Amino acid sequence: MAISFSPIEQCAETQPFAECHGVDLSRDLDAGTVARIKQGLLEHGLLLFRGQRGLTPEREVSFNRAFGWHDATQDEFLFGFGAPTTEHKVSGGAQMPGLPEVSVLGNVLLEDYHGIRNTQLVSALGFTYSGWHADGLHDMFDGMPEMTTMFNPVGWQSAGGGETCFTSGVRALERMDADLRAELERCVVAYIRCPNDDLPDESRRVTPGQAYMTDEATRRLGWAVNPRDPAAGLHDFEVRPEHADGGGRHRCIRVHPESGQASFYATPSRAAYLVDAVTGEVRHGIEETPRLLSAALLPSAGPGVRYEHQWREGDFVAWLNTLVLHSATDPTDTVGERLMHRVRLSTPKTRWADGHYTSH
Ligand SMILES: [Fe+2]
Repeated sequence: MAISFSPIEQCAETQPFAECHGVDLSRDLDAGTVARIKQGLLEHGLLLFRGQRGLTPEREVSFNRAFGWHDATQDEFLFGFGAPTTEHKVSGGAQMPGLPEVSVLGNVLLEDYHGIRNTQLVSALGFTYSGWHADGLHDMFDGMPEMTTMFNPVGWQSAGGGETCFTSGVRALERMDADLRAELERCVVAYIRCPNDDLPDESRRVTPGQAYMTDEATRRLGWAVNPRDPAAGLHDFEVRPEHADGGGRHRCIRVHPESGQASFYATPSRAAYLVDAVTGEVRHGIEETPRLLSAALLPSAGPGVRYEHQWREGDFVAWLNTLVLHSATDPTDTVGERLMHRVRLSTPKTRWADGHYTSH
């Protein structure tokens, strides 16, 4: 069956995302198929493959490697879930011991799942807390993942809730106020440092909790005392300039080196301030930066504009973090059992130099 792409009906007017037909991801993909899918990813930013069955974790990893965006030397995959253990553990996620590239997320007890034992998964990242982000922008000092994939295996079907929301950074630029866009084109965003792949050191965790977000999850209000209980309020904590020392930095608006598309590209929840891309001087401080990034993203973040993916069995979604931002609705509303696989492989570290993002 020939590969074809069709717009995702729910967001056909507002997003470039596409459903990809005619591919069985459980089989070996030949070079021509990989090339078509890569072209589709660069053009649409996000591809949805429905009804995928028999897709093994090994295949998920080989799909992620097939496009050549990853760092072939990467040998550590730390996402803060801790090492596998046989003790009972409650965690936001787990990694397969034999295949640590694959993270497992959800709300179920895993007694023995691809080597993950005795682990109760809990969903913690909600729309009001994590906000819009691209994987790795803010939590990796080097080598963000170009692509992330998420897979909802057959046999694990929740009845609703816990949607993943997506919005195109390319379209966000088109919706953005022209003066604001011109200003952000001059800016590099400096992030609050946090533990990451390269330095998973607790001393880098400077904030007291997850960001609490408002305005369709585009603006940080503060830091949540309890990510599962909004009534618990916010920590008494203020971001200071030194909290961004050693944190990630990259341009707010970036041109993709392969597709040539300019894209808005920031994680507002972790942003500290904006600096001039040429001089390095601060252009917008700690107070102003969340407001500016929110104004940039808000027209693209609300219901009716964003794409809310409601996960079905066998759904496999691949998106480019360099062209697409994502968030999640509150997973505490999820009805039924939920289990997802996630793969995100870092790009070569040479794409980052001295903590500054370069486009190449
Ligand atoms: Fe994410």
